[in-house]
Amino acid sequence: MKTLLTYSSKTGNTKKVAEGIHKILPDDSTLASVEENLNPEQFDLIIIGFWVDKGTADEKAINYMKTIKGKKIGLFGTLGAYPDSEHAKQSMIRVKELIEPQNEVLAEFLCQGKIDPNLTKKFEKLPPDHPHAMTEERRKRHLEASKHPNEDDIKEAQGIFKELLSSLD
Ligand SMILES: Cc1cc2nc3c(=O)[nH]c(=O)nc-3n(C[C@H](O)[C@H](O)[C@H](O)COP(=O)(O)O)c2cc1C
Repeated sequence: MKTLLTYSSKTGNTKKVAEGIHKILPDDSTLASVEENLNPEQFDLIIIGFWVDKGTADEKAINYMKTIKGKKIGLFGTLGAYPDSEHAKQSMIRVKELIEPQNEVLAEFLCQGKIDPNLTKKFEKLPPDHPHAMTEERRKRHLEASKHPNEDDIKEAQGIFKELLSSLD
């Protein structure tokens, strides 16, 4: 079975998770940024990594996802929100809706990833009545995100995709 692990990453978080997952994939699997735009037809299993942008996958990841048809798929992503939050759950649902229905999504994983400090600064400048204004809760979440992805996140992702591979043996 030929496996492609492809990812989109603006600031490196998703790339870090991708490199961690790649370590447990068979030696002949391919690791590539979505920007390399590899032909999905050459692969049986495609694992795609994205970063969450406005509650869905980032545009580059979405554009690549749309080119995939009739494949086994694994999804992983990083985001600023907590992975067990409603926002994370809804983001993953939206991503799955973007995948063509002839594909089969067999595994999924999300973890936090540090938020671009420029975005945090933007939130800090918003007036207190703005829906995205910086609150104590939001500050705490950004601080927690700044510690991710960590070793435990990578291990968890590796476990999920190891299980996926063994289910296909
Ligand atoms: C423009 C922008 C929009 C974002 N939108 C969201 C969002 O809607 N929800 C969320 O939880 N995190 C959001 N984030 C946080 C990123 O998803 C998170 O930091 C991610 O780990 C970045 O991944 P990367 O380092 O691979 O680019 C956003 C970050 C940026 C810069």
